[in-house]
Order: sequence, then structure tokens, then C-alpha cells
Amino acid sequence: MIVRNFEPSDFEEVLEIESEAFSEHNPFLYMNFYEMNSEGFLVAEYNGYIVGFVVGYKLSDNEGRIFSLAVRDGFRSMGIGTMLMNAILPVFMTKFLHYASLEVRISNIRAQEFYKRMDFIPCWVEHGYYSDGEDGIIMKKRLTPFTSAFLNDSNKPVFPGKKHSFRLRDYI
Ligand SMILES: CC(C)(COP(=O)(O)OP(=O)(O)OC[C@H]1O[C@@H](n2cnc3c(N)ncnc32)[C@H](O)[C@@H]1OP(=O)(O)O)[C@@H](O)C(=O)NCCC(=O)NCCS
Repeated sequence: MIVRNFEPSDFEEVLEIESEAFSEHNPFLYMNFYEMNSEGFLVAEYNGYIVGFVVGYKLSDNEGRIFSLAVRDGFRSMGIGTMLMNAILPVFMTKFLHYASLEVRISNIRAQEFYKRMDFIPCWVEHGYYSDGEDGIIMKKRLTPFTSAFLNDSNKPVFPGKKHSFRLRDYI
């Protein structure tokens, strides 16, 4: 198993995995990501087949966003998702980004558990984020060690941007 940069010849297999994993598709976005940001597009290859991919990009001066992560059905729970995440986070760090963030469907408990295990923290809910009206949870992970400047009075991490994380208690 290797994790390497996406190449245009991987496109078909990536789209296959993407349409198997997600209900919303936008094939053109993936080629755009490759053209604009090839270092943030990684694939996992096993015996010559693409079995997973991750796409991440610089969202702001200090934040990298995981746009998409998926592992082919039948290859899940083998550590491939973890490998892909462990490969994309250093890409963010080389760009001196301080946070990684992502959004996940509120119904996608397995992915939420996966991200929590990777130290992502649920931060807030985006109501009606998806085109079918489902809510999304924004999760973030600090890429460098916390300092007291980033902890509130209860020793909880404080992320820049939105501040209504309390609403998550209704969901998590
Ligand atoms: C979320 C997703 C990317 C995780 O990928 P994955 O390859 O299954 O992730 P990992 O194998 O690294 O970790 C997942 C599980 O495998 C277990 N695991 C990790 N390495 C393992 C190993 N070597 N042997 C056995 N189990 C292992 C983990 O403990 C974890 O346990 P779980 O079954 O309770 O979740 C994958 O499930 C997926 O593609 N889902 C559909 C798309 C999706 O929801 N993407 C996220 C949208 S935001």
C-alpha cells in the first residue's frame, strides 16, 4: 500500500470511489483541485488499484480544509483512511497552517468517530449544509501543540471563527 500524489490517470477510479461513498457529486471539482492544488490531492494505491483518496486545500491563512476523504468499500477498517489523513496533515503543516478542518454529515456517525479518534473536535453545526437539507458538523484539529493562549477558562480549545459550539450538545 502506498500513498502518493494524484495523477490524471487515477481520475476514473477516484470518481468511482467518490460516487460509491457520497450522494453529492461534482467530477469537475476534482480536476480543478488537481490543477489548482496538486500537492493536496493524494491517493492510496494497492496492487495498482486506487483504494482511497483525500483532497485538502488552504482555506485561509491559518486553516487547511479536508474537502473529501473516502476509502473504497471493501477496503475500509484497514487503516487506509488513517494513512491518508496522516499524509494530508503534514501537507497543511508545510504551508504553516495551524488548523485542519472538515465538514461531516450529522448522520455519518462512523466518519465522526473516525475523525474524533484523529483528534478532530466537533465545533459547530451548519444547518442545512448539504443540498438535501441535512446538517453538517464542522470539526477542527490544531496542527501544532496547544498553548494557554488557545485554551478558554475550562481548558477547552478555542478556535477562531464561529463561537456557537455549544449547539453541538444537542447532537453529539
Ligand atoms: C471514513 C472513512 C474515510 C474511514 O476510512 P477507513 O479506511 O475505514 O479508516 P481506518 O481503517 O483508518 O479506521 C477506521 C476503522 O478501522 C480500524 N482500523 C484501523 N486500522 C486497522 C487495522 N490495521 N486493522 C483493523 N482495523 C483497523 C479503526 O480502529 C477504525 O475502527 P472503526 O471500524 O470503529 O471505525 C471510510 O469509512 C469511508 O470512506 N467512508 C465513506 C465516505 C465518508 O464517509 N467519508 C467521510 C466524509 S466526511
